[in-house]
Amino acid sequence: MSLVAVGACYVDTILTTPRYPGEDEKLRATNISHRRGGNCPNSLEVLQQLVAQSSPAAQVPLNLVTILPARSSVASRQIRDAFEPNVSLDHCIYREEFEEPASSYIIKSQSTGSRTIVNYNELPEMTLDEFVHAISIIKPRPAWFHFEGRVPDVTLTCVRHIRDRFPGAIISVEVEKPGRPGLQGLAVEADVVFYSKGWAQGNGYDSAQECVRKESSLTSNTSLLCCTWGQDGAVALETKSGDIIHSPAYTPLGLQVVDTIGAGDTFIAGMLYGLICKKDTWTLSQKLNMANRLAGTKVAQEGFGGLGHVVVECS
Ligand SMILES: Nc1ncnc2c1ncn2[C@@H]1O[C@H](COP(=O)(O)OP(=O)(O)OP(=O)(O)O)[C@@H](O)[C@H]1O
Ligand SMILES: *[C@@H]1O[C@H](CO)[C@@H](O)[C@H](O)[C@H]1NC(C)=O
Ligand SMILES: *[C@@H]1O[C@H](CO)[C@@H](O)[C@H](O)[C@H]1NC(C)=O
Ligand SMILES: *[C@@H]1O[C@H](CO)[C@@H](O)[C@H](O)[C@H]1NC(C)=O
Repeated sequence: MSLVAVGACYVDTILTTPRYPGEDEKLRATNISHRRGGNCPNSLEVLQQLVAQSSPAAQVPLNLVTILPARSSVASRQIRDAFEPNVSLDHCIYREEFEEPASSYIIKSQSTGSRTIVNYNELPEMTLDEFVHAISIIKPRPAWFHFEGRVPDVTLTCVRHIRDRFPGAIISVEVEKPGRPGLQGLAVEADVVFYSKGWAQGNGYDSAQECVRKESSLTSNTSLLCCTWGQDGAVALETKSGDIIHSPAYTPLGLQVVDTIGAGDTFIAGMLYGLICKKDTWTLSQKLNMANRLAGTKVAQEGFGGLGHVVVECS
């Protein structure tokens, strides 16, 4: 079986500042750095480290389906180099008339650790036909599809295509951006849904428990609903039993939050690992604990490197 993740790939420019600037203020950054971002690429960067800890027989081939600028552009080459061969980008969609990747400009405040993001993306979004073509040739046949819930109406047609052509494949969806209509409709047709705190709050929920409980009444076919809540950890609701499990955030004494960019993506990587690679060997609560430990370890360091040891500690 293989996993296909579908979502945007960004190139991030991160400015570190002593504090968050006020509007119309002039402030000197203490550092500038560049890195590749985007929710699915972030999750895959972490997931490949976890999968590398599994026995060769249990390795899951990982694929990223994303829109990139021209094949020969600097950004496309750098992105491929960062992932291959561990994550296949063979089925990406190149926009030959563009050179610029989707870009994020991030202000990271040292006083709070918060990150404020401004995006720019001129690449036309993926169409259903492009998706159908991209996944038709992936080997081995994909058994798990994970979507960043970006363009809900197109994603919904992709989900229906999978149901039709890949019966038995599991579909997970990330519901992250508040105020994007159609995400709920997408969640209804997925098997596994990951809600972010931002989305939950934007929809009037005061806790992760409330979010999964109320959303589960709308998503009758979904088997698992997860919601993260920053330093309050995460909850998961298994619809079969109706049980809601809470797992606290991983905050060992002395752990300093230095970089929360992609904490949610890291959590998703942990859950996908548990659900795919430890399907019947870990309980749901073990999977949730590992995902929190992974995300908590991540926020205490810069970037996504060196996280594979967490899965060893949890095994
Ligand atoms: N301050 C913190 N201390 C420990 N763990 C944290 C902290 N903040 C986040 N985490 C971990 O990361 C997970 C996801 O956090 P959060 O809900 O803030 O994600 P997010 O805002 O969606 O992140 P992003 O959008 O940057 O990917 C939490 O469930 C928790 O495990
Ligand atoms: C700036 O950021 C880069 C990348 O995160 C890091 O390697 C470097 O040490 C930082 N420099 C300073 C002065 O903080
Ligand atoms: C691919 O995985 C191997 C084995 O885990 C690792 O050593 C290597 O750094 C990875 N490559 C990339 C580009 O991440
Ligand atoms: C739920 O599953 C049933 C049975 O497979 C199916 O007929 C129905 O269309 C599904 N509902 C949604 C909203 O996907």
